[in-house]
Amino acid sequence: MALIGLKATPFAVVTQLLGIAGAVLVLVWCIYFMGGLAWEATNKSLIFNIHPVLMLIGLIIIGGEAIISYKTLPLRKETKKVIHMVLHAIALVLGIVGISAAFKYHNESSIANLYSLHSWLGITIIVLYGIQWIYGFIIFFYPGGPSTLRNDSLPWHVLFGLFVYILAVGNAMLGFLEKLTFLENSGLAKFSSEALLVNFTAVVTVLFGTFVIFTVLSQPIVEDDHSYSPI
Ligand code: HEM
Ligand code: HEM
Repeated sequence: MALIGLKATPFAVVTQLLGIAGAVLVLVWCIYFMGGLAWEATNKSLIFNIHPVLMLIGLIIIGGEAIISYKTLPLRKETKKVIHMVLHAIALVLGIVGISAAFKYHNESSIANLYSLHSWLGITIIVLYGIQWIYGFIIFFYPGGPSTLRNDSLPWHVLFGLFVYILAVGNAMLGFLEKLTFLENSGLAKFSSEALLVNFTAVVTVLFGTFVIFTVLSQPIVEDDHSYSPI
């Protein structure tokens, strides 16, 4: 989808910088301010901390890289398809492990599951992401659908993929807001470094998502094939 005449290069560069910044910020928050990450721990908060790290670095950042890979890599279409597919698989697995960490934290702390808007949208997103991956795999990769079905599916794949991705970025906003509200309710000062850091991480996340979309809407860096033919 190249709706704007500008080249993807500057958008892609900004996307990479924002991705690195977002990954560093969420790690600083969860490791330095919130005490670190652990799958097994008596301090159950450390189990929760895995959740924002894997959702942001996995689903949002690696998922975003998967989406822009068609526009940013100077490679053959077949190669880019494999990279797109593998990066989305990594994003999906990290997303599933990240959500499992939130459930594990709730279960071991006797907190109810799935009570919030964030958690309802979260489950919806991961299920839709999984369906999108399986459909993409079967139709575009193996065994591959008949060419009419591939052609007809492609615009829906793009539309649905962008919808799920934008929903995921929006839901990460709800997650940051929810966690910061919990922390402030238990005493964190509103203008403390940690509170500012969380809001700033969320701003970087929404900008990253925005630049992923800008990159998708712009012209591929290398015009090596007919963009948008469902091979
Ligand atoms: C798009 C990415 C995300 C998805 C798909 C997602 C999904 C989920 C799901 C399904 C739960 C429910 C777990 C349960 O009921 O036991 C949950 C819980 C939670 N998540 Fe996320 N999450 C995402 C990103 C984030 C981020 C970046 C934060 C920031 C800190 C966050 C904070 C929370 C909090 C505080 C909870 C516990 C309270 C609740 O269940 O709403 N999430 N998340
Ligand atoms: C096995 C998994 C997948 C396969 C085989 C696959 C395949 C493809 C193919 C062939 C294209 C067309 C590229 C072009 O002609 O320019 C494409 C584009 C796209 N895919 Fe996937 N896909 C998969 C998973 C996903 C997932 C999970 C998402 C998002 C949640 C997604 C989002 C997109 C988007 C947004 C585009 C448009 C990119 C652009 O226009 O630059 N895909 N995919």
